[in-house]
Amino acid sequence: MVDTIAITGATGFVGAEVAQRLTTAGKRIQALIRPESLRKKPADIAANWIEGSLDDLPSLRLLVEGADAVIHCAGAVRGATLDQFRRANSKGLAHLIRAAVDRQRSPRFLLISSLSAREPHLSHYAASKREGERVLAGQSGRMPWTIYRPCAVYGPGDREILPVFKWMANGVAPVLGSGNGRFSLIFVKDLADAVNNWLDQDCCHSGTYELHDGHPGGYSWHDVIGTFRRLRSNAVIRIRIPLVLVKMVARVNLLTARILGYAPMLTPGKVRELSHPDWVCDNASLSSASGWLPKVLLPEGLKRTLNQVGI
Ligand SMILES: NC(=O)c1ccc[n+]([C@@H]2O[C@H](COP(=O)([O-])OP(=O)(O)OC[C@H]3O[C@@H](n4cnc5c(N)ncnc54)[C@H](OP(=O)(O)O)[C@@H]3O)[C@@H](O)[C@H]2O)c1
Repeated sequence: MVDTIAITGATGFVGAEVAQRLTTAGKRIQALIRPESLRKKPADIAANWIEGSLDDLPSLRLLVEGADAVIHCAGAVRGATLDQFRRANSKGLAHLIRAAVDRQRSPRFLLISSLSAREPHLSHYAASKREGERVLAGQSGRMPWTIYRPCAVYGPGDREILPVFKWMANGVAPVLGSGNGRFSLIFVKDLADAVNNWLDQDCCHSGTYELHDGHPGGYSWHDVIGTFRRLRSNAVIRIRIPLVLVKMVARVNLLTARILGYAPMLTPGKVRELSHPDWVCDNASLSSASGWLPKVLLPEGLKRTLNQVGI
């Protein structure tokens, strides 16, 4: 029986939703929090907050103490160098695995990886996520583990897709290149449900699983804009942004970030991810291993997201 869960990343978009879901399910939560992020502690999560970080092994030992399961939602999603991504996505993960494996009775371990790990050559982010998966497979010993590879996650609190929805609410949709590339999406609450379902299984279904909202063949940006228009009945003008221009801006942004020392989102690697033609995935193996099925398709998820953020 999985009663006590250690979680990382509970101050972030995905982790906060997962921790909220576990709070609702009545689970006991031990959540890692960085001292500099104490002000971000979400009020609706009932947890024993452990101050520390993925660089700090003693705090990770405290975090996993007495836990039946560990859920690693923390991750670096922006950065200027491979090392900045590795810090959380592979090196930090290795510390967390070490803390878990060193316990007399190892907890089960769920890594929230990313569909981008399927294409590690595209960006430092994608490479670090794939590296993290390898670290888990190589260093877990007899600890049972599962890897989830969600596609693009959206919902209130997201910082990547939500800004585009906000643009659309103002009547403008930026479309990168042809906009014909296809990608899967998942509403954040469905992802949190999948994590809760993993905890409710008698044993941990080991392996690597992709997750999306179940819409076959995914979406293109034109589909997303069409869904938005039907939902809001407001005119949305498509503005096509040439790839070459975005690549240039990304290069300048990366250079500026390296000089000024901030973690950039728009980098040449991110542009390669965004312009990759196929980010479509499939739930079949996860559903047959666990019985989990997504519930929220884009029209419903978009409606709930816009309502919740008040646009
Ligand atoms: N969002 C998506 O569309 C998406 C899709 C697929 C996979 N994922 C994966 O889901 C995970 C969470 O993504 P997100 O969108 O929720 O990102 P996010 O909002 O930026 O949250 C990242 C979380 O990780 C924590 N973190 C980062 N570095 C850390 C470190 N060195 N030590 C301790 N905590 C650290 C952050 O803590 P602070 O609050 O202290 O910064 C925050 O809680 C990532 O692993 C990402 O790869 C996300």
